[in-house]
Amino acid sequence: MKVKDDVAQLIDKKLEGKLERRKINMMIEEPKHDHMGDLAFPCFELAKLFRKSPVIIASELANKLSAAYIEKVEPVGAYVNIFLKRKEATAQVISEVIEFKDRFGDVELGQGDTITLDFSSPNIAKPFSMGHLRSTVIGYSLSLIAEKCGYKTVKINHIGDWGTQFGKLITAYRLWGNETEVKQEPIKELLKLYIMFHEKAEDDPDLNDQGREWFKKLEEGNEEAHALWEWFREESLKEFSEIYRKLGITFDSEHGEAFYNDKMEQVVDLLQNQGILNESEGAHVVPLEGLPPCLIKKQDGSTLYATRDLAAAIYRQKTYGFTKSLYVVGNEQSLHFQQLFAVLSEMGYSWTEGMAHVSFGMILKEGKKMSTRKGKIVLLDEVLKEAVSLAMKNINEKNPSLEEKEEVARQVGIGAIIFHDLKHHRLNDIEFSLEDMLRFEGETGPYVQYTHARASTLLLKGQFVITNSSGMIEDDQAWPIVKQLMAFSDVIKRSFETYDPSQIAKYVVELSRVFNQFYGSVRVLDDSEYIQARLSLVYSVKIVLKEGLRLLGLKAPEKM
Ligand code: ARG
Repeated sequence: MKVKDDVAQLIDKKLEGKLERRKINMMIEEPKHDHMGDLAFPCFELAKLFRKSPVIIASELANKLSAAYIEKVEPVGAYVNIFLKRKEATAQVISEVIEFKDRFGDVELGQGDTITLDFSSPNIAKPFSMGHLRSTVIGYSLSLIAEKCGYKTVKINHIGDWGTQFGKLITAYRLWGNETEVKQEPIKELLKLYIMFHEKAEDDPDLNDQGREWFKKLEEGNEEAHALWEWFREESLKEFSEIYRKLGITFDSEHGEAFYNDKMEQVVDLLQNQGILNESEGAHVVPLEGLPPCLIKKQDGSTLYATRDLAAAIYRQKTYGFTKSLYVVGNEQSLHFQQLFAVLSEMGYSWTEGMAHVSFGMILKEGKKMSTRKGKIVLLDEVLKEAVSLAMKNINEKNPSLEEKEEVARQVGIGAIIFHDLKHHRLNDIEFSLEDMLRFEGETGPYVQYTHARASTLLLKGQFVITNSSGMIEDDQAWPIVKQLMAFSDVIKRSFETYDPSQIAKYVVELSRVFNQFYGSVRVLDDSEYIQARLSLVYSVKIVLKEGLRLLGLKAPEKM
């Protein structure tokens, strides 16, 4: 951002190089209230450096600042408040957006380093629940944000296709399953069997033993067990890929847990050789400081979720050489990831430092957790269908002659669901409410998409051509938009650093709001000489809204 860079450069000169330029750039804030200026520079951190009070530093600094984009400067307490020359700054910002287009706002952070993102990762033989939606949309958005910040990304779907639950499912299928029924509606039937297993196991603990036994057989390569597992897996993946297609989400790797079957023994050996594996009542564990020991192998020799995650982490480091490795998984697994990272660092892997559990809250239904076992579950696929048909209904009411209605309805309906998830801070629980998700006004995806479409229509009507006339913008009403555009890059950076797409969601809502305010108070297409200049601002808004939506995983239709 040139305007900000220029201000930073100036401060840099005044501080005689005592502070790094990057640091200065980062310290410049955008005040919430207009009377505090357009940019502000806090001087607290300079006190030590200059051995003066930050208030004195601020007033000295304010005394000397003047430059191309600076209108006036005011020291207030420990802050230097900077007011920009609106006309010049506006012209500069708009020309930058138009020059860089969808690369506007790019952040130089990753420098081509690789970051792996483990997200979505549903369990086979269970429906893709609303619960998995969070991981999927947060993870995918973070991958787009990471790319925008200069990282190479590897998007990994760590499919839950291994574990004791398959012993249970095989047991249930062998006892009560019916091939024809499963073939007709695989996931639904398998879920039924799974639920039945848990209900019956409450009175008949022997079932659990059988389940364990069948999992053991599966791990030992028993043919019958393997064939059933393979079949369950295939059917499930078919259903999942349909959902990813609808959401517009792709992966770079779909190695599930089973992929690590032949890679775990090595890890166990390594732990043994390093002397960090202890035997405890026939099981093998890694004792950890301040945490419960991490169970690596059960008494019967079978491996665990954690064992597979250990093998996966090592495999990923070897294969991709990541500097950061994120796991987008619900809060309830936070102990698991603490243990995983602790074991890896016990093993001496320094790259463990780059690993993080990006956790999130639950989707609640009437205040309660949704659980597969009890059958209290909302199927994502049904929600998607409902959202799209509601979007269609809206279009038919408001704009029945719209071209490519079906496609737009899909983009809007699905977008509504993704946005509803991402606008909440990931750590908060979300109450599942179809009504809220599908509201097409207020802080919703459709509202932002609608604003984008409105800007597109305006450009078409005004026959916008790219020129250098943005310097002619006279409207003070435009200023809130320009300030918002200036903030884009910082918002992206912050949302990456805190792994928080909600900041971008809030940003596009706010940009829409100030744009709609402008649209409501300025007649963009009057008969003045300012039309093209104003349209260049509209065009900038369109570019940034579209890019912001893209970073969240939403499409931006031209017309709605
Ligand atoms: N399949 C797991 C679940 O649904 C999530 C897997 C997350 N990723 C991982 N590497 N552990 O709970």
